[in-house]
Amino acid sequence: MKLLVLGATGPTGRHFVDLAVRSGDSVTAFVRDPGALAELGGQVALAKGDAKSQRDVAAAAAGHDAIVSALGRSTSMQADELFTRASSALIGAAEETGVSRLVWLSSFGVGATYEVSSATQKLIYRTLLRALYADKAIADERIRSSGLDWTVVYPTRLTDGPAMGRFHAGDHLPMRGNPTISRADVAAFMHREVHGGTWIHRSPVITDPSLFVLLVGNREIYRDICHGELTFITALLESSITSRRPLV
Ligand SMILES: NC(=O)c1ccc[n+]([C@@H]2O[C@H](COP(=O)([O-])OP(=O)(O)OC[C@H]3O[C@@H](n4cnc5c(N)ncnc54)[C@H](OP(=O)(O)O)[C@@H]3O)[C@@H](O)[C@H]2O)c1
Repeated sequence: MKLLVLGATGPTGRHFVDLAVRSGDSVTAFVRDPGALAELGGQVALAKGDAKSQRDVAAAAAGHDAIVSALGRSTSMQADELFTRASSALIGAAEETGVSRLVWLSSFGVGATYEVSSATQKLIYRTLLRALYADKAIADERIRSSGLDWTVVYPTRLTDGPAMGRFHAGDHLPMRGNPTISRADVAAFMHREVHGGTWIHRSPVITDPSLFVLLVGNREIYRDICHGELTFITALLESSITSRRPLV
């Protein structure tokens, strides 16, 4: 398949690009700085642009079978309208160039998934991630209202762990604590989806199945995960104080 990948220099996007190249796809990485993927040499085509620009995305999208987005704001908790503006640009560009398939990475806790999140997750989503998630919610709805063959993916908290090759995916998944999934597994799910199309016009929640079962079944591990969350929140607060950027 000919795939255009947005967010290709981010950790999830990079896993996706590596997997797609290994699988024999023809990949165009949409990047702001082509130098960031210099080590990939001739393995991928590079298209330079800003994801918020319909003109830039359309110029890159022509001739592709699908667009995959792993766009994100890295460690920033301010959206800076990235998702709302990029979703508009992307929908317009896709319509303009006739590329109908889109796999878009969102976050569990955005939009309707907030309602089914755990108490721990709600605490994080409505404080630290509130601004980011508000922007993502508008973007996700815009994509669902488009005429594209979309899939909007909702992973739980991302880790840099290895790919396990298994996902727990569902339209609705009950949550305890703050389960995780590795970026490598999210990329593999998105890659399988762009080829298979099982979740077209659906919004799958995905999480690590082993952790998911353990959370439901084992109080000790649940307590450890909660402790992990406290460390996570403390680190975020420290980073906010150090960078003098407000969290919300
Ligand atoms: N952290 C979590 O626990 C979690 C949980 C669920 C979902 N998610 C979501 O998963 C997604 C991926 O996260 P990640 O940590 O793997 O990646 P990330 O570090 O957020 O990577 C962001 C990518 O988007 C690109 N980008 C940002 N603004 C752009 C623009 N205007 N034009 C073109 N490219 C732009 C960046 O390019 P540059 O290299 O040029 O900056 C980079 O490639 C994010 O949407 C994140 O919110 C995160």
